[in-house]
Amino acid sequence: MPEIQRLDGAVRGLMLELVELATGRPGRPGEELERESLALQARREALLRENGWPGEYLDSLYRCPRCRDTGWAGGEICACLEALYKQEQTRDLAPLLRQGDETFETFRLDYYGPAASAGEPGSPRRQMERIYSTCRLYAESFGSESPNLLFTGGPGLGKTFLSAAIARVTAEAGFSVAYDTASGLLACFEREKFSRDEDSQADAASRVRQLLSCDLLILDDLGTEMLTAFTQSALYSLIDSRLRGGKKTVISTNLDREGIAGRYGPQLASRLCGEYQWLEFQGRDIRAIRKENT
Ligand SMILES: Nc1ncnc2c1ncn2[C@@H]1O[C@H](COP(=O)(O)OP(=O)(O)OP(=O)(O)O)[C@@H](O)[C@H]1O
Ligand SMILES: [Mg+2]
Ligand SMILES: [Zn+2]
Repeated sequence: MPEIQRLDGAVRGLMLELVELATGRPGRPGEELERESLALQARREALLRENGWPGEYLDSLYRCPRCRDTGWAGGEICACLEALYKQEQTRDLAPLLRQGDETFETFRLDYYGPAASAGEPGSPRRQMERIYSTCRLYAESFGSESPNLLFTGGPGLGKTFLSAAIARVTAEAGFSVAYDTASGLLACFEREKFSRDEDSQADAASRVRQLLSCDLLILDDLGTEMLTAFTQSALYSLIDSRLRGGKKTVISTNLDREGIAGRYGPQLASRLCGEYQWLEFQGRDIRAIRKENT
């Protein structure tokens, strides 16, 4: 009975909204969610009866004996719901992590030249050693005191690689981590605001909520998105609201300081320069090095 499955899915969605609410995130009022949840459960029961089953037929099949799949046990959020919540929060990491072996253990330093170029104080390798340790420490001790990071540098230097490594470690430690490119993220904001399709709009709204509220947001390829008045202001409010909420963000970009100021204006530039720790990636494009070696 696919309708039962659909109803169960809807109840699950409401449970997640409840957790978001309980963790202080903005959303619909709890009474409304509860009312809706009870209505769905009543429909499910009626549907079972209509099809010749006892209304409580599925109730003995609780996945969680502690809370009987309500998400609440003894006035608290049940551990099963917390686990589900984290899983939902990190499901979009799949495309980033599926590339597989981009971890701190597989990060190679021999791609970065050991010799300093003229006029530079250190070599790319020294610089990348520093960046690698910073990122590793960052991931392993991630918490509310962590800074925001900004990875800057040319293409193919390992920015997305180290972002993925950080995402993996922090997500495994139980933090909610979201990954998106600037253009993907802004497309979501646009859909939330302008879409006429209700489903697509609701979907985008839930994603936007996640992007605003997750513990760690990995924002990749800043500067490659199409810039409009809307995307510019959406980006500004995203960065600003995460700063104000004490939520951490790791940004990657090919732009330097002037590039950022020129493209996004002084307000955003001031936040990115003042509130982010900048890590300047150096070396030669590893995509090119790999091609030469094959
Ligand atoms: N230190 C490294 N060790 C092993 N592989 C690496 C390393 N750095 C990068 N790579 C590989 O090189 C390729 C390019 O790296 P990555 O995508 O991280 O570059 P990027 O700095 O994000 O570039 P862009 O600015 O173009 O997005 C990827 O396939 C990545 O797995
Ligand atoms: Mg990249
Ligand atoms: Zn439970």
